[in-house]
Amino acid sequence: MSKRVLTTESGAPVADNQNSATAGVGGPLLLQDQHLLEKLARFNRERIPERVVHARGSGAYGYFEVTDDVTAYTKAAFLGEVGKRTDLFLRFSTVADSLGGADAVRDPRGFAVKFYTEEGNYDLVGNNTPVFFIKDPIKFPDFIHSQKRDPFTGKQEPDNVWDFWAHAPEATHQITWLMGDRGIPASYRHMNGYGSHTYQWTNAQGEAFFVKYHFKTNQGIRCLSSEQAAEVVGKDANSHQTDLLQAIERGVNPSWTLYAQIMPAHEAADYRFNPFDLTKVWPHADYPLQRVGRLVLDRNPDNVFAEVEQAAFSPNNFVPGIGPSPDKMLQGRLFAYADAHRYRLGVNHTQLPVNAPKATVADNYGRDGLMATRNGSRHDKNYEPNSYSGPAQTDAALSAPLAVAGYTGTHVAPLHVKDDDFFQAGELYRLMSEEEKSRLVANIAGGLSQVSREDVIEKNLAHFHAADPDYGKRVEEAVHALRED
Ligand code: HEM
Repeated sequence: MSKRVLTTESGAPVADNQNSATAGVGGPLLLQDQHLLEKLARFNRERIPERVVHARGSGAYGYFEVTDDVTAYTKAAFLGEVGKRTDLFLRFSTVADSLGGADAVRDPRGFAVKFYTEEGNYDLVGNNTPVFFIKDPIKFPDFIHSQKRDPFTGKQEPDNVWDFWAHAPEATHQITWLMGDRGIPASYRHMNGYGSHTYQWTNAQGEAFFVKYHFKTNQGIRCLSSEQAAEVVGKDANSHQTDLLQAIERGVNPSWTLYAQIMPAHEAADYRFNPFDLTKVWPHADYPLQRVGRLVLDRNPDNVFAEVEQAAFSPNNFVPGIGPSPDKMLQGRLFAYADAHRYRLGVNHTQLPVNAPKATVADNYGRDGLMATRNGSRHDKNYEPNSYSGPAQTDAALSAPLAVAGYTGTHVAPLHVKDDDFFQAGELYRLMSEEEKSRLVANIAGGLSQVSREDVIEKNLAHFHAADPDYGKRVEEAVHALRED
């Protein structure tokens, strides 16, 4: 094998990579040292804006295999046949901290899947929690500001975290989840993933269904207590990355079984609470889990920056047969992600290998922009319609239409009678064992007792009381005991 030659970016050989060119032995540097200038300038441009949330993450490639026939519910081609396999990329993440943060922290985890289907990429951008803190996207920037670093102190502040929650009773369910045992997964392999939102499926006959996705880990759920997590962070801040990387390198490929809860679309209007409310789960007794397939991760990316940092998932990357529901949060997300990608990665981020379709090609009239690499042929027209057999629309509806009614405006009234913010938080609390309840109460009190304002503490306590009187009483006692210390 011939010896590899070090070159400049333009491919010219480099003569000296140890000594800069100078005027005389001890003299000042020469502007003509192209290799030096290029090296320093390029280094300055290595970092791009990190994701505004979910900055810290790990990714891997794998495949999805259909195990059960769901063609009665969706016409999506990649779900169209038992045994069919589709390549995918999955990025896990923590939410609140920056790129350099630790993995084993109490925080939701992202679970974002890009299925490279023959009908285009399908992105399912979920979390490890079936619900979320808020149900209207207009609150999202304020919510995230309250959970990330304070602009003055530069660190997460219990005052801000709990002040937001004091004004967000709808967060009580997710707080109960987060402060409970599942709040700190032991690794990305040992947690479930959820689509969280309600999505819409449409079958070949044009019939509509609403669905919720559940990826159940086949490794078993494993979590860390707050004390165990502190120890893990001290030993290896990258514990989730280490675990995922090493498992796949050893050939111990993690897998998840995908289930769907499926609601015929006509049942949505009369369901006893709003089925598009992201702060609520659908009881399994109403809509049981139906198995769909198996997701396996079997290959680590070769380059973390190129493939994980530059991965771009967008909840509005749908394929025929799968579409959005009227969930307001989801509707807000349909805008937010691609907008973030255009800022973070540029307009042509869809042409990067990790983001480009693999089982089909993107063929449209979008052109140019910073870093364009998709040129088309010299015969391709850049307008449509045209007389030169360029790509044309299919006229086939992607999903069934949704019926809407009412007046435009900002609405405060609940959609359904049972849309209160507390009953599912109470149900989750009552499901817990005595030990789980004690740990939950201790975790909440540990944070809430650090809040400086009594009124903020009182408002939060009122939420736990409303969820379940015993829950409220125990949190209140624990907070007061800690504050008297
Ligand atoms: C990342 C916005 C709610 C899951 C992001 C990013 C933005 C964003 C701007 C960074 C995207 C990037 O730079 O690549 C929002 C807004 C929300 C919302 C506006 C509410 C209206 C949610 C919910 C979930 C979720 C409810 C889960 C069910 C994720 C995940 C990522 C992410 C997993 C990381 C994706 C990746 O690995 O690249 N979000 N988000 N987000 N979000 Fe959200």
